[in-house]
Amino acid sequence: MEITVHTKTKDYPVIQERGILKRAAEVIGRQGHVFLVSDSGVPEQWRNILQEQYPDAHMHVFACGEQSKNFDTLKALLEDMLEHHVSRADTVIALGGGVVGDLAGFAAASYMRGIAYVNIPTTTLSQIDSSIGGKTAIDLNGHKNCVGAFWQPDMVLVDTDVLSTLSPRHYSNGLAEAIKEGLVFDEELFSVFEKDDYLEHIDEIIHRCLEIKKNVVEHDEREAGERKLLNFGHTIGHAYESSHGLNEYLHGECVGMGMLAIMENEELKERLRAVLKRLHLPLACDSDPQEVYRMLLNDKKADHDTITIVQVDEIGKGYLQKTDIESLWRKLI
Ligand code: GLY
Repeated sequence: MEITVHTKTKDYPVIQERGILKRAAEVIGRQGHVFLVSDSGVPEQWRNILQEQYPDAHMHVFACGEQSKNFDTLKALLEDMLEHHVSRADTVIALGGGVVGDLAGFAAASYMRGIAYVNIPTTTLSQIDSSIGGKTAIDLNGHKNCVGAFWQPDMVLVDTDVLSTLSPRHYSNGLAEAIKEGLVFDEELFSVFEKDDYLEHIDEIIHRCLEIKKNVVEHDEREAGERKLLNFGHTIGHAYESSHGLNEYLHGECVGMGMLAIMENEELKERLRAVLKRLHLPLACDSDPQEVYRMLLNDKKADHDTITIVQVDEIGKGYLQKTDIESLWRKLI
């Protein structure tokens, strides 16, 4: 299945096909050299499949985890690119989850004022959400995605076969973003998770999420309006993540808890709670609420005392709501 994402800066294909990693070089088919980026969390078997197709290319592998999204890791990556004489005509290929895409994408966006990059996401989280749309970033002083750029990839290859090595925790972590897309945009998608056989539908789930995201990004690439809807659960979720120094809960786990905290409709909350439980996702964050609130005050989406949050009262019909940051305090206690 192939879709094309049309943006102001570029149009690019997103190709979803089982086994496509094995023929990535043929599909990518670019001029110039490539520079491969991955992390230690990506099983060697997937890294080797890519490396074998580019025997002369250097692969930069950094330590996995959100803690790597910092200036030091970025600097080491950029220095390695320079050392390997990566030029403006070359392409960065990112193989990994959201952290690899964010870092490699930001390196591609900033190296020599921007070079091409291809994303090969290897987790449910990155296949469902972060690999398309051009958001790249690192964290700053514990604040998520504080420094970054919009830099669209040139191509995205989604191979759901590589999900076979993902741990159950990371698998569910990414599905939290699909649950979010269902709640905000598509009741049918949400209802897939209300049945025990949801894992049998993984290819359709990912495809549907890519279609939803494509439409949103095409309407609002720089998040001036509609794209904010994708942040459902993220305002409180990011604060949960940051309050634990970004290393206790995974991103999707925080999004799940953040959606539950922000929602007001009790009946929907009950349906969401049941889905999160089915996927073994956490329901409540054990952070100190004062610390979570302190993190909320630094949210990128905040404008001094007010913040735009996403609310869902009816499944598939998410909407934006401007609110006082202070009013979020009662959601935390
Ligand atoms: N992850 C939300 C977005 O790309 O806008």
